[in-house]
Amino acid sequence: MLTIAGMGPGNLALMTPQALEAVAQADALVGGKRHLAQFADFRGEVRVLDADIPGLLAWLEQQQRRVVVLASGDPLFYGIGTRLVAHFGIGQLRIIPGISAVQYLCARTGIDMNDIWLTSSHGRAVDFDALARARKVAMVTDAKCGPKAIAEALIARGAEACWLVIGENLGLDDERIYWLRPAEVQAEYAMNVVVILNER
Ligand SMILES: C[S@@+](CC[C@H](N)C(=O)[O-])C[C@H]1O[C@@H](n2cnc3c(N)ncnc32)[C@H](O)[C@@H]1O
Repeated sequence: MLTIAGMGPGNLALMTPQALEAVAQADALVGGKRHLAQFADFRGEVRVLDADIPGLLAWLEQQQRRVVVLASGDPLFYGIGTRLVAHFGIGQLRIIPGISAVQYLCARTGIDMNDIWLTSSHGRAVDFDALARARKVAMVTDAKCGPKAIAEALIARGAEACWLVIGENLGLDDERIYWLRPAEVQAEYAMNVVVILNER
């Protein structure tokens, strides 16, 4: 049985009991180094999740054991779950949801998620015009397009009065949350999500 377990933002207290139980019962655990480090006592086989997704899929196809793939946040929100459902079909998988980094940031800041546009800059071209027109957006980001690039694009489109709420290392010991106007955004942030509030 292949299980994809949502890790939440990365702190075990934010994982569901069902996800923790799946890991406890697993014969093999797959995940990023940061996530595997949370299960240092795991006694089964451990496989690091890297950029070689075809290699992972081929390995998973051969498994007759209970394998759990750890997914950051929620597995189906810009996560590995989407790729695994596409490959194996939901009938061959169990997906255990997790708290996405966006949900966590909204909970910490009291920003309601009603009518929020959930998107990502991860490995894709961002439609900054659509972003500047939207009233409320939440984005998972990557190193190429993070808070600074988003802020500059918003300023260039006349949205300098909006708020950027940046959640850095959420759920971790060095978590930080900033409310900034685009002009105040710094060049560098650690792992982050951004909520843009442009409610005119
Ligand atoms: C591939 S996406 C996965 C999103 C994830 N499935 C979710 O539901 O949050 C990875 C991105 O999620 C965001 N992210 C994940 N964990 C985070 C955390 N603890 N703090 C801030 N951002 C986080 C970052 O934007 C990171 O680059």
